[in-house]
Amino acid sequence: MRDSLENEIPYIKFKDVSFSYPGKKENCIVNCNFSINKTGFWMVVGKNGSGKSTLLKLINGLIKPQNGFIDSKANIGMVFQNPDHQILMPNCRSELLININQDISQKEINKKIEYVLDQVGMTGFEKRPVHTLSGGQKQRLTIACALISNRNFFLLDEPTALLDQTSQLKVLQTIKNLTSDHKNPLSALWITHRYEELNYADAVAELKNGFLSGWQEPSKFQYN
Ligand SMILES: Nc1ncnc2c1ncn2[C@@H]1O[C@H](COP(=O)(O)OP(=O)(O)OP(=O)(O)O)[C@@H](O)[C@H]1O
Ligand SMILES: [Mg+2]
Repeated sequence: MRDSLENEIPYIKFKDVSFSYPGKKENCIVNCNFSINKTGFWMVVGKNGSGKSTLLKLINGLIKPQNGFIDSKANIGMVFQNPDHQILMPNCRSELLININQDISQKEINKKIEYVLDQVGMTGFEKRPVHTLSGGQKQRLTIACALISNRNFFLLDEPTALLDQTSQLKVLQTIKNLTSDHKNPLSALWITHRYEELNYADAVAELKNGFLSGWQEPSKFQYN
């Protein structure tokens, strides 16, 4: 059903990337090298101001590095901390509709809407006004929007920062399911400062003062 870049595995590769904001002497991202070339659940953990959101802006091309290069082939979908900043329409169906970027029949549209709502655990929510959704449901609606527009690489910038624990776990589990779907797994890069979330990841790296560590297994992750 999901027809993301058919059979193509998205990838992102950073080679010696450094970035500083205009007028700042110090680099915000320092000599960063990493690649993501497999589907799965990737997490970057770091404290406030460590450069996490800047790293995502480099990945999605909003800003360009002063040094090094970024090679990527990915159809990127963004999920931000506050879903109210990205949901535009009054109900779930209309929000999903504006994210469909294909010319398809009404029947196919209905099928897709049903499918993506099911994928995020929101079956039956189609007619629900957005203002009646909980924070976690809104966040899962933004994930459904990325799915319906055939994104194959999700960048999530602290998507659970405003959620209570129950909603946090539901959003984590939603991404876990999507990235471990045995038929058509997605890639997701999840940014967090919450160490308890790392157990859900397939691989974890730490961003500290602009320096990114290598990928580690969550069970072997060393807290610094
Ligand atoms: N547009 C900008 N211009 C100048 N400096 C910036 C800009 N955006 C971010 N910075 C600075 O870059 C550094 C890294 O910011 P960034 O937002 O990437 O951190 P973060 O790890 O995402 O933090 P948080 O956990 O608070 O979201 C900070 O010192 C911040 O003040
Ligand atoms: Mg940030």
